[in-house]
Amino acid sequence: MSKLIGNAIFGQSGGPTSVINASAAGVFTEALRQTGVIEKVYGAANGIVGILNEKFYDMGQEDPAELELLKTTPSSALGSCRYKLADLKDDDTDYKRMLEVFKKYNIRYFFYNGGNDSMDTCNKISKFMQQSGYECNVIGVPKTIDNDLFGTDHCPGFASAAKYIATTTMEVYLDARVYDTGMITVIEIMGRHAGWLTASAALAAHKGHGPDLIYLPEVDFDLDKMLADVKKVYAKENKVIIAVSEGVQTKEGKFIPELVGEVSVDAFGHKQLGGTATVLANYLKKEIGCKVRGIELSLMQRCAAHLASKTDVEESFLAGQTAVRCAVDGMTDYMVGFQRPESGEYKCEIKLIPLDDVANTESKVPLEWINEEGNFVNEKFINYALPLIQGESKIAIEDGLPRFAKLKKVLATK
Ligand code: F6P
Repeated sequence: MSKLIGNAIFGQSGGPTSVINASAAGVFTEALRQTGVIEKVYGAANGIVGILNEKFYDMGQEDPAELELLKTTPSSALGSCRYKLADLKDDDTDYKRMLEVFKKYNIRYFFYNGGNDSMDTCNKISKFMQQSGYECNVIGVPKTIDNDLFGTDHCPGFASAAKYIATTTMEVYLDARVYDTGMITVIEIMGRHAGWLTASAALAAHKGHGPDLIYLPEVDFDLDKMLADVKKVYAKENKVIIAVSEGVQTKEGKFIPELVGEVSVDAFGHKQLGGTATVLANYLKKEIGCKVRGIELSLMQRCAAHLASKTDVEESFLAGQTAVRCAVDGMTDYMVGFQRPESGEYKCEIKLIPLDDVANTESKVPLEWINEEGNFVNEKFINYALPLIQGESKIAIEDGLPRFAKLKKVLATK
């Protein structure tokens, strides 16, 4: 079968991770190798916003050594966006504009790297190109610390954030136990409506230096129940460490910060989370009276490349590389996903998942992985997560500090 000849574009979308650029490195190095099939390789500035504004970079002009450094450079090197494409039936303006840009630059390969919302965007673009009769192979590259993409065993970015969270929790555990006085520490972890990331604090407990209580969004959050849980541990230990997801909600559907005020909403209608640790810490201070600290891991957990999992870096690169290989082989309308063997040693195998299936479906921590009390996870989670955090990523160091990639970002012109 003859291959589709033309140019390729790659965009990053949604919240960044420690390893999203490793996927970019996978896409770019593989696409640049596909000479004779892929002629030019573009990187969109700020995801589809860059495509709509015709702002993209000619990746062929980058120094290969800097592209290599992308593997250990956190955050989204090309810039990201949270831009919601309207439904085609409601407004086709952006779709028509994209087609115009794709035609102008002869873009025949489109790779979009992101989480749930980004896969929804990728799916919409894929379907529109098909409907328009414009030949363009579209492949989604998964990414999200939230680990909530449907159909894949896990998502690039999750394991590195999990490794950071587990390590930091172990360190906090040691610090929070030095005094002979009572103390409660509340650690707030990202992950939106899925508890995967917060559950990773259990890896610290697995090593004997972890939280006493873990609250995930999969279980309705009850303030009185939490207070009773905390009092029980405090009475015994005089110290309590709580890991709580930013996304826990009361049974009435309220996030914790909403109990004390309004929260803002983004383009996708997601409430801006964060602040749960502070609210809970203030509450516990009032109720129990001892020293209480609220720690929000916030952005630190997303871009902690110094603690990235080597497994995650390698798999993220593989996801990008595979996306290009599949597209060049004629596949389209899929997201690259991972699966592991049912038994035996952990091994990451590739699978392709139809974009239709992925778009906007969230994958949650199975309820049977959560204890009956709804305040911890069991061995099933540990067995799932441990293989993913293995290996240390070696970041380049210059003057004692990380040497991150410096891209020239030469703008593409026509
Ligand atoms: O989706 C990834 C994520 O990091 C969530 O865990 C978090 O709630 C959200 O992004 C934060 O988004 P933003 O960077 O837009 O504030």
